[in-house]
This record gives sequence, C-alpha cells and structure tokens, in this order.
Amino acid sequence: MCGIVGYIGYRDAYPILIDGLKRLEYRGYDSAGVALMNGQLELFKKKGKVADLEAHVGSRPHPVRIGMGHTRWATHGEPNDINAHPHVSASGTFALIHNGIIENYAVLRQRLQNHGYSFQSDTDTEVLVQLIDFFYQEGQVTAEEAVRMALSEVVGAYGIIVMCQDEPDQLIVARKSSPIVIGLAEGEYIVASDATPIVAYTKDVIYLNDGEMAILTTEEYTIKTIENVIQQPLLQRIELELEELEKGGYDHFMLKEIMEQPRSIAESLRGRINPETGQVVLGGLVDVQEELRAANRIIFVACGTSWHAGLLAEYLFEEFARVPVEVEYASEFRYRNPIIQKGDVVIAISQSGETADTLAAVEMAKERGALVLGVVNGVGSSIARATHAGVYIHAGPEIGVASTKAFTSQVTVLTLMAGYIGQLKGTLVPGMAEAIAALQAVPDKVAQILDSNALLMDVSARFKSATNFLYLGRGYHFPVALEGALKLKEISYIHAEGYPAAEMKHGPIALIDENMPVVFIATRDESYEKIVSNLQEVVTREGRVIAIVSEGDTTIPELADYVIEVPQTHPAIMPLLTVIPLQLLSYHIAVMRDCNVDQPRNLAKSVTVE
Ligand code: F6R
Repeated sequence: MCGIVGYIGYRDAYPILIDGLKRLEYRGYDSAGVALMNGQLELFKKKGKVADLEAHVGSRPHPVRIGMGHTRWATHGEPNDINAHPHVSASGTFALIHNGIIENYAVLRQRLQNHGYSFQSDTDTEVLVQLIDFFYQEGQVTAEEAVRMALSEVVGAYGIIVMCQDEPDQLIVARKSSPIVIGLAEGEYIVASDATPIVAYTKDVIYLNDGEMAILTTEEYTIKTIENVIQQPLLQRIELELEELEKGGYDHFMLKEIMEQPRSIAESLRGRINPETGQVVLGGLVDVQEELRAANRIIFVACGTSWHAGLLAEYLFEEFARVPVEVEYASEFRYRNPIIQKGDVVIAISQSGETADTLAAVEMAKERGALVLGVVNGVGSSIARATHAGVYIHAGPEIGVASTKAFTSQVTVLTLMAGYIGQLKGTLVPGMAEAIAALQAVPDKVAQILDSNALLMDVSARFKSATNFLYLGRGYHFPVALEGALKLKEISYIHAEGYPAAEMKHGPIALIDENMPVVFIATRDESYEKIVSNLQEVVTREGRVIAIVSEGDTTIPELADYVIEVPQTHPAIMPLLTVIPLQLLSYHIAVMRDCNVDQPRNLAKSVTVE
C-alpha cells in the first residue's frame, strides 16, 4: 500500500506534493512526509493524515523545484513520526520513499550494522536507503549506480523515489511489483503510485514496467532496466478527468460512489449488448475466443469484495454457461499448489488491479499454462497488464476505501461474460437472454432504490448501536449477504457475519436474541418460501429483522421490523439491486457512529502487500 509522489520542474513542488498525497491518501493514512531539495535535503514527517503533516510544516516562504512525498500504511514498524517516510541515510546523503516490502531486510540490516550503520526506525525501508548509501560511499559510484547495486540485492516489492544530496537535480525512480506512473508535461515530471496526482498537470504518462528505473531531470527523462539497459517507453494518454476525483458536493466519496451507480453500471454495459441480436459483445475477449470455446473450467481469483463478485459469478457461469467454476481467495490459491489443467481459464477480479495476492495468483496461473483474464477497473494497472486479455469494468475511479460501485460493475461485467462464454460454447441455457436483456434496465432500477435513502437512514438510526449483525441470503443472495456484512464491519467496526440463510440452523441461530439485528435478503425467486421460513425462525426467537424484499411483497412486511423494497427483475440480476440498500445501511450507520467512512481504521484501498 502507501502512496508515493515526486515532482521535478519549474513550479513550487511542495503544494503539488501535498495535493498529490491527499489524492493518494486512500492508499494509507498512518503517517505522511515530504523531502524537498532546497540546496540541502529538507525533511518533514508526521504521524497521522496529510493534513497533520501540513499543519506541522506550516507556511513555507521558499519555493523548491524538486521534492517527493509519501503517505503510509504501516507494515514494519508502528505508525509514528520516526517510521514515517522519507527515510534518510545515516550520512544524510540519500532520502528515499517506498511502497512495498523489502523481504530480506533483516539480513541486509545485520550486514549494514556490521559495517557500522545504525538505524533510527523499525522499517524495512530504512535498510534500503542505507544500503544505497553503503554502495555509494564504498564504491565511488554515481547515485544512480548505487541505487541499481542496492536493488540487485533486494528481495521483495518496491516502488521507490530516491533523492541524493550530492546530485540534487534529479529524481531516481524504480519499480518491482508496486505501481509507478510518470506524468510528462512541458518542463516538468510528476511521478506517483497512480495517475490521480498527475491528471491536473498532464494526461501523457508512462507506466513503469517491473524491473525498470527512471532518471528524471528538468530537461529529460531516461527509462532503463535495473540492469542498465535503455528502454523505449510506451507513451500513453489517460482518460481520467479531474472532476471524477472530487467529492462533487457529497460528504464522502463512498456516498458519491453509491449514488453514482446508475451511471457506472450503464458505463459497464455500454456497447456490450448488440441491440439487434441481444448478443453480448466483449471486444477485450475477441483474441481469446478459441481458448474460451475450449474452456473446461473457470477459476476466479480475487480478494475481499472482488471475491464476493467472483462467488456470484460462480452461480451465474454455472447456471447460464454450464461451465464448471471454482472461486479462490487469491492469497490461498497462490500458496497451495493448485492443479491447473489444459482448458482451465483463470479470471482475476480486481478493482484496483494492484492487489498483491491477486497479481501473484495471475503470475502463477500464467506460469502453469492457464489462459488468464482480468476483470479490472484500474486502466493500465499491473493486473490489467499482466493478464492475457480481459474486460475493463469502466466504473471510474473508486476512492472510498469501501468498494461499492466497483462491485456492481464487476457483477454487471461478469454477467455479460457468462453470456459471452455461453454464446461461444453453445451452452447457453434458456433464460440467459432474458437475464442479459434485464441488465439494460438495471441503471433505472438502481436509481429508484437510491430514492429509499431516507428510509435507510431511519433503519440505521434504530440499529446504529448494535454490536453484532447477521446477514442471510440464499442462492444469488448468499454472496450479497457476505458483501453486506463486509461493508458494515469495515466502515462502522460492528461485527457482522454473512451466511447462507439455510445454514443458520447449523450454528448461528444460537446467537439470535432481541439484541441481534438480522438482515434478510428475501426477494421473490424459487427459494422465497424457504427464506420466509428462515425469517420466521428468527422472529420466533425475538431477533430483529430488516428485510430486503421485492416490491409489492405482502408476506414479509407482516413479520419483519423493517422492510426495504426493491423492484423485481430477473432473479440472476437481483443482486445488483439488493446490494444497494445494504451499502446505504452501512454508510449511514458508520456516519451515525462518527466513523471515518472514506478512511476506515487499519485499512487501505489498494493492498499492494501480501
Ligand atoms: C472492501 C474492499 C476490499 C477489496 C479487496 C480487493 O470494501 O474494498 O475487500 O475488495 O481489497 O481489492 P481489489 O478489488 O482492488 O483487488
């Protein structure tokens, strides 16, 4: 995790760095720091948010043209001023910021200590800056060569920016498994972990590849491998607009992103259903049609909310494309020696496209010969580039740490993919055409549900002090129950669990009493009668019931404490509707509990460490 940003050019670097850090804060917000080149290396670091750093720095009369900043999500060493980045070498010659983990830091640290180096912090990062210093002092080499020598000894992941007191007119940048984007503007360059700090200045970018370095001066940039081979970079233009990165009048990014879903789902669908034939058209998969036709099994790999989308895809793909599916936590898949056979297709689902475990699972599946596809939001992200082919979900930037619009866009795209693969294999079952057609009306139906916001505020006020919640659903609504529980726990810190409703009898029912709110997702489908029975079992034991029901339901309102209606559509598409009230419920409860909705404690948006 962690966000890094660097600037070299003709403007004052400091406000650009602070603005960039605020945009990257979703990646970590334990501490922040900047290093500025002002004849001397000037350093400011502070525990807490970027705003705390700003207050610590105060007003700065002298503009500087070169600098770098970091916002941290702690891995090694608690969040405090000392462990905050940038880290400076003992001689004061080098400053470094780092996103990633240096796995062999203990060995390197010992080696450096044997050479008389002492350490200030508990971080793995400080080892790297001292190692660079060591090679620089020992070897009579340039700063760039010292960085290269140090990196050749490092095991782990890094996106780094290095500044050297003796060579003050350059930034040295390098990446391995942690993203780096370089924005190219007239007479200035901005480097960052993602494009968000860059768009205000330029849309022309280079995504640094794994194992590459960049040397930036005010006059030019050079891209080379860490082994010093000059590279011809691929210049790209990003589509991101600055307004997409603002709150647009909402109190929180999460609320803005929930409210945006009619549009984001429409974007995920745009141009992907042929209006004449009703067939699914997925341009990103055209080149792998033959392999998809021959697919024997699909394995989804993902983490968190994206894993929930994968679980839903299992139901969709098996029901409609009749292809066997497995859904794996990327972190488990990559470490358990899975069997990958001819005809297996691995599909990685990731909003950011940077999740370390999902990326590692992609690399492993590729090594074992699978066709690997991506369902990704982050355009140009590491997973998008590492996969053989894929489909972007086009949800637009998601900044709130809790994933909302990315989930509905993932599910939308996965529904289309189920249709597409079924079309190719000729295995589509009756009903899929109706499901695909029903997708087109989803944006309007979501807009209708968003109108029940006031009711959800009432429900939230009633349950905001609960200490536990249970979420129950059957079939397509089991993954929705998991997602509803995850949303609540991550932003309001209320313990919540999702279960298949029928499993309740096998244990969780023991928890039910008058203090236990139970959220039922109980819309009209073939298991409706069964879930009504489960609901009755809770009511009998005095549990408090909040039910998400189909419009016009007359049975459940007789039983439940609160009922939220959603319009009815094809049962396979219903999760796109039923998840919306659950997002709003967790949002309002978190706000009412004074929680930091967009930056929940201990979390970060992009989990780029294992
Ligand atoms: C939950 C949430 C996380 C992410 C998970 C995977 O609201 O946001 O659980 O879903 O960290 O992230 P991506 O999708 O970026 O790979």
